[in-house]
Order: sequence, then structure tokens, then C-alpha cells
Amino acid sequence: MSNANVYPPSAEFSAQAYVPSLEAYRALYDKAKENPEEFWGALAREQLHWFEPFDQVFEWNPPFVKWFSGGKTNASYNCLDRHLSTARKNKVAILWEGEPGDQRMISYQELHRLVCRFANVLKARGLQAGDRAIIYMPMVPELPVAMLACARLGITHSVVFGGFSAEALKARIQDLEAQIVITADGGWRRGREIRLKDAVDEALRECPSVRDCIVYKRTGGHVQMQAGRDFWWHELEESASETCPATPLDSEHPLFVLYTSGTTGKPKGILHTTAGYLLQTTMTMKWVFDLKEEDTYWCTADIGWVTGHSYIVYGPLSAGATTLMYEGAPDYPAFDRFWRIVEKYRVNIFYTSPTAIRALLRQGDHWPNQHDLSSLRLLGSVGEPINPAAWEWYHRVIGKGRCPIVDTWWQTETGAILIAPMPGAVPLKPGSGTLPMPGILPEIVDLDGKPVGENKEGFLVIQRPWPSMLRTIWRDPQRYKEQYWGKVSGVYFTGDAARRDSDGYYWILGRVDDVMNVSGHRLSTMEVESALVRHPAVAEAAVVGKPHEITGQAVCCFVTLKKGDYDHEALGKELRQWVAHEIGAFARPEEIRFTEALPKTRSGKIMRRLLREIVTSHTVTGDVTTLEDMGVITKLAAQHDED
Ligand code: WTA
Repeated sequence: MSNANVYPPSAEFSAQAYVPSLEAYRALYDKAKENPEEFWGALAREQLHWFEPFDQVFEWNPPFVKWFSGGKTNASYNCLDRHLSTARKNKVAILWEGEPGDQRMISYQELHRLVCRFANVLKARGLQAGDRAIIYMPMVPELPVAMLACARLGITHSVVFGGFSAEALKARIQDLEAQIVITADGGWRRGREIRLKDAVDEALRECPSVRDCIVYKRTGGHVQMQAGRDFWWHELEESASETCPATPLDSEHPLFVLYTSGTTGKPKGILHTTAGYLLQTTMTMKWVFDLKEEDTYWCTADIGWVTGHSYIVYGPLSAGATTLMYEGAPDYPAFDRFWRIVEKYRVNIFYTSPTAIRALLRQGDHWPNQHDLSSLRLLGSVGEPINPAAWEWYHRVIGKGRCPIVDTWWQTETGAILIAPMPGAVPLKPGSGTLPMPGILPEIVDLDGKPVGENKEGFLVIQRPWPSMLRTIWRDPQRYKEQYWGKVSGVYFTGDAARRDSDGYYWILGRVDDVMNVSGHRLSTMEVESALVRHPAVAEAAVVGKPHEITGQAVCCFVTLKKGDYDHEALGKELRQWVAHEIGAFARPEEIRFTEALPKTRSGKIMRRLLREIVTSHTVTGDVTTLEDMGVITKLAAQHDED
């Protein structure tokens, strides 16, 4: 092994693991590589329920792919009904804790009943397969209930993270032309009510496609109900029957659209379909999380992001897991909330983000040390590169040196984990996602598509389509083509830089495009810039990600103002608030820097690279020959020294 710190799996862990050795991993990997049709075909037949069998494993018409054509299945059926004829029928499916401390334990049978009833509510509102629903809810069990009810009928859902503002919500409803919005009065976060219905009301003023809005009562806060449009969940549900057969749907039926940031100001609607998505999320529950029947599994993500879709809802429920959901903040009422929950519910598998790990690490070891964490057997990390110091802390203080850490690399677009260790098979190196999953052929290349060779930095691409791959961008196949298949000819372009070491391990180095990663949340520089220039005082804005000790990156904005007299301090505050209002609180800039001009090329393009250098190193190196006005750079760099 090329690296000093290597952690091989313990004999004990390997002995019970789903994939117990490096040889077993390699055999699986080689099998998938040599004969993907046979490999995925056999898994799909064995792991999913089919109303009608498929007749083709995949059809690849670059860059469009179809998996399991001709087959009919249903994601909701696979997550619920098929477990009801087994011992899982009384197993807890969703173990939920609200931020105020309330709890619910919902068995597979009970979840099935809730989903059937809500599906009947949707049916009674006239919704049918092919329609679209926006779901804007707090982390309560009714959120997965709404998703699974949609999936049951073939209604394509799009969950919008509850931290997004009315503006961002509106843009998503409009792009999707949704017929219905499913929401709640609010949710709890750090003891405060996040008022969701108010944001929906604001958004719906300009969303003519929406006929109905269903409101789940969570907080009991006062909400406006518009007659004829708004209905209480509990009232509609009262008369709904508990019987609702799942509709047999084509393998390629659109399951959900999830909006994510790209390199422009307009979010992209990433489309995932049914069978391939479900198969790969199910398989990675076993390969990566080594899920066992008796495990209590907890992923701390919000369901508004892809991690919550794949690894709180669809993957775990399809695999028959007990999946824990927590409504609130990790530091509420104190910094030991996560560890308290682990102890209370005897959590075995714990999956979180490097941002959360770094934030909790800073609070000191006494918080986790107050709790019995001995139930933990496996830890996971997702969303951004994990720095070795945070990895070591996670391993030592949380996992007590016993638990493997699976560092999982993937994206909204990939649907499921593509690079991660199989914990019983693959020796770990802190900071590396290690090796690819079966069926995944990554490569590190230059822009001509030539492999760059061992230990060299390049673009991470994936050479073959995989079952849970995005199918297109909602109503924008051209953008899909250009964005993912047009950068390097013939391969999927991830937008990440990476290198591969002499053991074949992948090290992800971060984004190569104008996408920032703040607390593991994707945010495009253009999105923030467009929000800023909508403010009446702003002439121009350029936004870059600035390295941040806890959140990975922080939003840093360079702003030029229109003519006028301004109180810079007050305006800076106002602009930070403005961005939070336009996009969501998580996008609130850390820093606003006012400047007289922005560095531009002769053709007028803002040179973000230089700004990035200023916020990273406070100096500018490299090629500035295309820069229009070198004076601007000198000023921006000097300004920092004055701060
Ligand atoms: C980054 C989240 C390093 C990466 C599932 C990717 C990671 C983007 C890791 C996708 C990891 C995700 N190590 N970087 N383990 N996981 N990333 O769409 O830059 O919200 O392209 O999906 O997060 O973010 P997204």
C-alpha cells in the first residue's frame, strides 16, 4: 500500500460481512465489468419484485440509456408490500424522533397503511400517473409517506428542501409544472418554527399549474388556508380507504426529479426513473452499509437532498431496514444530540457529513464520551472530501477504533454510491473513497479524454452507464447532453477533479466547475450572483467559494454598486439577508466585499479564478495576460490586508 495510514478490516468484521474479502470484491467487480448484462440482469430479477419481467437489461443510445425495458415494477411496492408477507411486517420501518423529543415507531404494515391512505387522497384529488407533485415538508414521517404514495400511483415527485425560500420553491414548481404541492404548517429547527406554509403561499401567487395544496399539521402554528385550494392532510385522510394497489409502472417511469445546482443560475431538474434507481440504491445498502436484518440504520441527511432520497427512503426501505429519521438540528438542545440518539435507539450504522463531524469535533470529546456508543458497528461519510484529521477523530472517538468508515462518493446525478469501500473487504485510507462499486468504470482523464496516469490530478469521468444514472435534465435534454456527455467525448463528466494512487484508490479533490460545496450542499456561484444582481443597489457580482474550517467552503461575494451613497456595513448585512431570502438560509454569504470593479478578461468575462486565489491565498499568481485592468486585482488583494 502506498500510504502510511491504512486500516484493514478486522477479521471479526470481515467474517460477518456481505462481501468478506478483497478477493470477493474483485470477483464481483470483474464479473460486472466483463458481463454487465448478466450481472445486472440477475440482480434485478433476484432483488426486485416485477409485475412483468423485463426483456432487455439495458439499451444504450449515447447519451441516453434505458434499463430493464419491457419490465413493470413499482418502487412503493418494493419498499412496502413485498415485506408484508415476511417477518418484516411488524418490524419498525421508520424510527422517528422530532426535535422537541417526540417519537414514533412505524412498522412496515403501518407505513403501508399510511401510504395507501394518502395515495387514495391523491387519487381523489384527481391525480394520476404522469402528474407531478412538489413536496415541501419538514423531516416528519409524512414526508416519506407522501413520496411513497406518489410512487405508488406513478406521480413524479420533487422534494424541495425545507431550507429553500419561497423564491427558490416557486422556480422549481414552475419548471416542473406541478399540479399539487404537499406541505406542512412548519417544522422545528433549533427550537424555532420554520414556517413552510407561508413560503408556499408566497410561491403559489405565480404558479398557475398548481390546483391543490395539501397541508400536514406538524407545529400547530397559525396558517392561512385558501378555500378551494388548500386542504388539511388529516381531514382528507379521514375518509380515505386503506386499500390502494400499487400501479404496475414501466421500469423507466419517472420516479422523481430533484433540483440541483449546476454552473448556471438556473437549477437543473435531475430525472431519476424507477427500476434501475431502486436496484442500485438497494444493492449499495448491502455492499457499502453491509446492512443486516437486525440493524438500526441512521442517515442524518435531510430528505430534501439526494442522500435522503436514496439512503433514508428508497434504499433502506427496499432493503427492509429500520431507518431512523431525526427532525432537527445536531446541536439542539446541546452538542450531544446525535450521540444521545445513537445511545437511545442503539444505532448500529451511522451515516453523516464531514461538515457535521467537524462541527461536533470542535465541541470536544466530552460530548460523545457521555454516551454509550457501543452499538455502532459501521460509520459513513458523504457530501464532500473528509479531511484526515476529521476522519481520525470520527474513527477514534465515535467508532472507538472498532468501526470501519465508508467514505462514499456520489452525486445527485449518479442516484447511488459509485465509489466507496466495501467495509469487510477493502482496507481504508483516510480521505479516500477507495474503490469503485461493481459495474462502475471510473477513469481520470484530461480534457481530450486521455488517462492522466497514476497519482496525477485530472477529471473524474465514468465510462459506462449504470442503472441509477440520471436519465436527463427535466425538459432540457440538450443541457443534459452538453453538461454530462459533451465535455469529454463519450464518457460521463462528473465535474470533480480526482487522482488515483498506485493501489487504484480514488482521491476526490473537489469541483472543477463553478459549483460550491457549503456544508455538503451544492450551490452554484451563478445562482448567488443572479440573486445579488436582482437587488436594486447591485451593479455586478462575482461569487466564489472560500475555504472554511467547518463548512468546507463558505460563500464569498465581490460586489460593485450602482451610483449612490451607501452605508457599506448596513448594505452588507442587507445583501446577506437578501440572498437568504432569494435562495435559502443555507446560502447566506459569509462575506460581502464591495469593490469598484471586478477583474475581467478583455472579452468581458469575470475572472473568478483570480478572485478564488484572492480569498484562498490573498495573492494572485498565474496567467493574468487576459486581464483587462490589473489595477482592480491589486486593489482587491490590498483590501484584504487592510481588513
Ligand atoms: C461532492 C451528494 C468527496 C463531489 C451525494 C460531488 C464528495 C458533489 C463526496 C455531489 C465524497 C460527494 N468525497 N466529495 N465522499 N461525496 N462529494 O449532488 O464534489 O449534493 O460532485 O450529492 O459532492 O453533491 P450532491
